[in-house]
Amino acid sequence: MNSLKELITKVKKNDFTLGVVGMGRVGLPLALVFANAGVKVIGFDQNKNCVNKIKHSIAPFSEAGMEELLGSKNFEPVFCGNSLAKIKACDIYIVCVGTPLTASYHIDYGQLFSALDIILQSPLKGKLVILRSTVPPGTLEERVLPFIEAKTGLKAGVDFGAASCPERMLEGHAIEEIVKLPEIIGGFNAISGDIAVELFKKINHGKKILRTTSKSAELSKLYANMYRYVNFALANEFALLAEDFGQDGTEIINIVNYEYPRGGIPRPGLVGGPCLTKDGYFLLSNTAFPDLILLASRLNEFMPQHVVNRLRLKMAEKGKVFHALKVGLLGTAFKGGSDDERYSPSVKIAELLESENVVVVRHDPHVKGTESFQKAVKDADVVIVATNHPEFADILPRIHKLRKKGSNCIIFDCWDMLDKKTAEKYGFDYMKLGSK
Ligand SMILES: NC(=O)c1ccc[n+]([C@@H]2O[C@H](COP(=O)([O-])OP(=O)(O)OC[C@H]3O[C@@H](n4cnc5c(N)ncnc54)[C@H](O)[C@@H]3O)[C@@H](O)[C@H]2O)c1
Repeated sequence: MNSLKELITKVKKNDFTLGVVGMGRVGLPLALVFANAGVKVIGFDQNKNCVNKIKHSIAPFSEAGMEELLGSKNFEPVFCGNSLAKIKACDIYIVCVGTPLTASYHIDYGQLFSALDIILQSPLKGKLVILRSTVPPGTLEERVLPFIEAKTGLKAGVDFGAASCPERMLEGHAIEEIVKLPEIIGGFNAISGDIAVELFKKINHGKKILRTTSKSAELSKLYANMYRYVNFALANEFALLAEDFGQDGTEIINIVNYEYPRGGIPRPGLVGGPCLTKDGYFLLSNTAFPDLILLASRLNEFMPQHVVNRLRLKMAEKGKVFHALKVGLLGTAFKGGSDDERYSPSVKIAELLESENVVVVRHDPHVKGTESFQKAVKDADVVIVATNHPEFADILPRIHKLRKKGSNCIIFDCWDMLDKKTAEKYGFDYMKLGSK
């Protein structure tokens, strides 16, 4: 008879199969790290194209160190459509599917429940389900377990195990961080937590483990992201204030932070991406005082509009028609070094400009299908450095060289990456966030 006690023995002996459901930016690196550590892993996805790429060792997105691990003999990518035997073969499932927002800013559970449906095609007795996706607090106990129990007649914690173990890695550093970061294990009960601990120790025997309840595990992930998000919003508020006072916001923040033990203010910039933008909303439905998070969201979400507003004012000052502008947008990913355009503030800038008839030529060295650098800058009236890709640090002489119209161009630096004096030396009109 399958029991959770037998499962823990199997995990200790490495005589088990791990199923990772969702081969996206969280699931694929996680599956590969386990496979690289000698665990037999099956990776499931409903996207046939994505599975085919992985089968041919083609990375569906960029992630440092991932390509080298793709051909691992311990790893088998499988399309969900015809996978019953493979689903049966797994002893533990880690659910890593997307948890996007609906149009009304609530979590869309669609991917999560469809993933559970796939898992439940095979008997769950004696197995463990781990929730890795970011979810509102209480999701495991109040949504996932009642769903499984109702569908199977099994009892959570007795017949099958369950735990919330949220992913905290930084995109672009996933492989390194999955190995190193302390693991938060929110077991539904003791045995579920014990099995999850044994599992994650396979990645790294010295991995630090933090055990808690499933709801606390889910909350801790949201707190970590919202702490950053609110701090970024405060830095952006400081930038807007500095502009109003006619000062340089980044310079002030550098002064505050310099050898000051209680400094650490982040720099202003465009804040977005699939985690920070949406995760705060997961905290709101049950919270009496959500004002700080909502305010942070309003501030951060306003920054693309602020860039557009400042450009409009600048054009008015110069007596130019805003709607006739041609803009070269440098960077469409939501953050430096990434090829991920989800919830990207740079894309939002482009959309705001395009809605006002401005022509935007988008270039991103990390995002396939965008235009070349040359095409974006050669005859632009404005060049916006919208993503802090390291490649953009030395672009001033390159822009200067490529331009047909000479130096008659505004450079809008959203990340304070470029040197104002150098820009002015080339004859560019330099603007940046946090300084008028
Ligand atoms: N991207 C990050 O940096 C990051 C970091 C920490 C946590 N998270 C959280 O992790 C979760 C996954 O994020 P992501 O960025 O990997 O999303 P993603 O969209 O890149 O990946 C989700 C994958 O799940 C697949 N999928 C959806 N439904 C499925 C189903 N029923 N069966 C099999 N596969 C299915 C999709 O095809 C897709 O490939 C989200 O909750 C996210 O908030 C993301």
